[in-house]
Amino acid sequence: MNTILTKEWLHLCLVMLVFSKVSSQSCTSLREQLSTTNKNNLELLKSKMRTNFPLQCLSDMSDFMTNQEILKEIQRSLEENPKVAIHEIFQQIIRTFNQNLTEMAWDENSLAMFKSRLHQQIQHLGTCLSAEMENDILSPRGQITQLTRLRVKRYFQRIDNFLKENQHSLCTWEIVQMEVKQCLLFVDQLTNRIQN
Ligand SMILES: *[C@@H]1O[C@H](CO)[C@@H](O)[C@H](O)[C@H]1NC(C)=O
Repeated sequence: MNTILTKEWLHLCLVMLVFSKVSSQSCTSLREQLSTTNKNNLELLKSKMRTNFPLQCLSDMSDFMTNQEILKEIQRSLEENPKVAIHEIFQQIIRTFNQNLTEMAWDENSLAMFKSRLHQQIQHLGTCLSAEMENDILSPRGQITQLTRLRVKRYFQRIDNFLKENQHSLCTWEIVQMEVKQCLLFVDQLTNRIQN
């Protein structure tokens, strides 16, 4: 009971620490902030992934691999709207990481840290986006925003289906983690396109 309470408390403190940082940030430091936080999350993800891809997962991998061309195409289409794209990518990664994680070798604290960094960035981006009135869905800009979000959602729908079809197995998580790693690397490129 006590250890559970301590853990919960630790998570809460972590989340509060991260959120309290957000409130003191402004949109002028968005690019630097995203870049740093995303790199930290990328390092965390890499440290949790197996160094050697499990051989028994190769066949699952080939089922999923056709993705690369599609991925490149989606990436090109997202470059025009980097802030919205990153905002949606992070929301989708959190959704993915809220699924059945039994077979994924993450400890709870690392997972909490990874997610709270994503939340922090979503909040920071959200503040800057609402200042730009992205919700005006009838304007041309608003329509591009909707389209960007839709593209990201479709891409993650594929990951979602893959996990579900394979009962969130060890192999599917290995492959999905590689995919998420590619996403974070792509976010790093997108971040460089943000104008402060
Ligand atoms: C989560 O996934 C594992 C591995 O596929 C499975 O054994 C377990 O029953 C699943 N748990 C839930 C709650 O679906």
